[in-house]
Amino acid sequence: MAPSTRAGGNALARLTSVRGLLYGGDYAPEQWPAETWREDAQLMVAAGVNLVTVNVFGWSRIEPAEGERDFAWLDEVLDVLHEWGIAVDLATPTASPPPWLASRYPETRPVTADGVRLWHGSRNHFCPTSVVYRDRARRIATDLAARYADHPAVVLWHVGNEFGQVCWCDGCAARFRTWLTTRYRDLEGLNEAWGTAFWGQRYSSWEQVVPPRAAPYLPNPGTDLDFRRFTSDMLLQLYTEQRDAIRGAGAAQPITTNFMGFFPGLDPTTWVGELDVVSDDSYPDPADPEAPVRAALTHDLMRSLADGGPWLLMEQAVSAVNWREHNLPKTAEQMRSDALRAIAHGSDGVLSFQWRASASGAERFHSAMLPHAGTDTRVHRAVRALGADLRALAPLAGTPITARIALLFDWPSWWTATRRGLPTSRLDPLEQLLAWYRPLWRAGYAVDIVTGEADLTGYALLLAPTLHTVTDRALTNLRSAVGTGVLALGPFTAVADPNGAVRPAPLPAGLADLLGAQVEEWCPLGPDGARLTARGAGTGLRGHAHTFAERLRPHGATVLATFTGADLDGCPAVLRAPGADLFHLGAVVDEETMTTWIGLLTGAAGLAPPESPVTGPAALETARRGDHLFLFNPGSTPVTTTLTHPCTDALTGAERAGELTVPAAGAVVLKET
Ligand code: GLA
Ligand code: ZN
Repeated sequence: MAPSTRAGGNALARLTSVRGLLYGGDYAPEQWPAETWREDAQLMVAAGVNLVTVNVFGWSRIEPAEGERDFAWLDEVLDVLHEWGIAVDLATPTASPPPWLASRYPETRPVTADGVRLWHGSRNHFCPTSVVYRDRARRIATDLAARYADHPAVVLWHVGNEFGQVCWCDGCAARFRTWLTTRYRDLEGLNEAWGTAFWGQRYSSWEQVVPPRAAPYLPNPGTDLDFRRFTSDMLLQLYTEQRDAIRGAGAAQPITTNFMGFFPGLDPTTWVGELDVVSDDSYPDPADPEAPVRAALTHDLMRSLADGGPWLLMEQAVSAVNWREHNLPKTAEQMRSDALRAIAHGSDGVLSFQWRASASGAERFHSAMLPHAGTDTRVHRAVRALGADLRALAPLAGTPITARIALLFDWPSWWTATRRGLPTSRLDPLEQLLAWYRPLWRAGYAVDIVTGEADLTGYALLLAPTLHTVTDRALTNLRSAVGTGVLALGPFTAVADPNGAVRPAPLPAGLADLLGAQVEEWCPLGPDGARLTARGAGTGLRGHAHTFAERLRPHGATVLATFTGADLDGCPAVLRAPGADLFHLGAVVDEETMTTWIGLLTGAAGLAPPESPVTGPAALETARRGDHLFLFNPGSTPVTTTLTHPCTDALTGAERAGELTVPAAGAVVLKET
């Protein structure tokens, strides 16, 4: 993860340079008679579909009984798709092991923290460390790849689906111990790292070490953190084993698996080195007014994982999902905006779950590109229109995005700061990330999301909203970044070591001397919060602090704002280091104050808001990719703005000048002429 733009090394960019932006979705033909497959292919072509993901849940069909193989149906499916010019993203079907496997080998099924072994009958019912499961998964991946390595339809491989399983079984416990031995070498190291001197948790033999299973009270935070790392690593092994099986069978196409955005169950920053293509599943809730900014943030994470180059929106919904309590459909404009937002933030395609609506099964009420009611439907018309939009945007394929601003976020910080036993459970690093991101998103800045260990040298502005857990390497990195860019820290940042233990004072660790101040105390705020008032002229920092604040003790830092009220009356709230480009905000603040704060920092970093041919209402969300400017209206009423100079409408080819109206929830894409 670096601000580089090495699209040349991006396997997806190579694929889309030939095929243009990718459009399509999951296709599960095993649900339908063979006559349907030709009809599907024909309809796909009419909709502009050029890629479908096949076989995600095909295992019980390919291997109907242990060791048997039935590829005939898949042969035909791939041939039909190829005949119609539709490329295939072929999946190893390992996310849903067949019932015969789950029944014959109960140890392949996962066990919960309470000791319950889960059953088959849904999906994802596998233990990530089960030797039998892994072996069978490898075998099916090998045979699949051997059969289709040279099939002309296959352009991409898709390993498993949405990795995220957790298992607390005895097998996982044994594997966890091995993993810990590698990390700490001996039991002494483990006892030290986990601070087992507290509450008499000292381990005297490895057999006593177990995953954090159901226990009477708060678990050891070190155990919890390491179990999450371990689980992420085990899932990654599943991925790499199947990837290697595909390669070993002679397949040369790029290989990926679909992430789930900011999903806590695996740390994607430790995975990306193993993927040829970064891909993501994105299901913004059409009922959530915050969905656009959340989606944009997640897309920026994916682009950052892809080093600024293209990534792939592997799944989204064309309308409603069926797994929330109450599932609003998307309007056609919402659907288009959700798809184009991903393109604007660096995706080289839009794939949806799924092509044809399922008649049966758990997801029969999930929307699909081809709804139950067929082609003469609102949804399918929108699907065809999007196909045309993506064709019009084909020149964007492969275009990287360079950001001068990075937000720092990492999974261990998120894991640690969302556990029980903290000053507050209301300070979620992800929500803070979003709060700091929002003003940048509104202003249309390109923003990367990186860890403290990334190459930070190319960024003019680095923002660490709640980087709670920091490695020594991250601290050195952050410290040296202060010379090359502006660094701003938020509350509860640089507090803990990688095991969650509080680092020695003064805090923020490794930066307090540079800052000319230290954090003395963490102070969750009562319902009234505290006021924040600018000290001296010029910063405009005034507003409301809520949820969480810090008692800061300056020794040389300039105080830019102070608290009024609560127990912190008169205490510093915002600091700037003496003679260094380092700032510290010691509170969670309201949106307006956050906007002022971010404005102060972009100013200090010399980053003017991105130029735009659009003036007028700030209600429009903008994002730039190459020479294309995307305008989104996240609101529920149309927004009219004025172009400062004529532009081409990239979707229609028409010249646009003067007034421009973006419909409610809609999007317009302009090309500078
Ligand atoms: C996930 C899965 C799909 C499907 C969709 C439904 O993204 O990968 O198989 O279940 O959710 O939204
Ligand atoms: Zn297990």
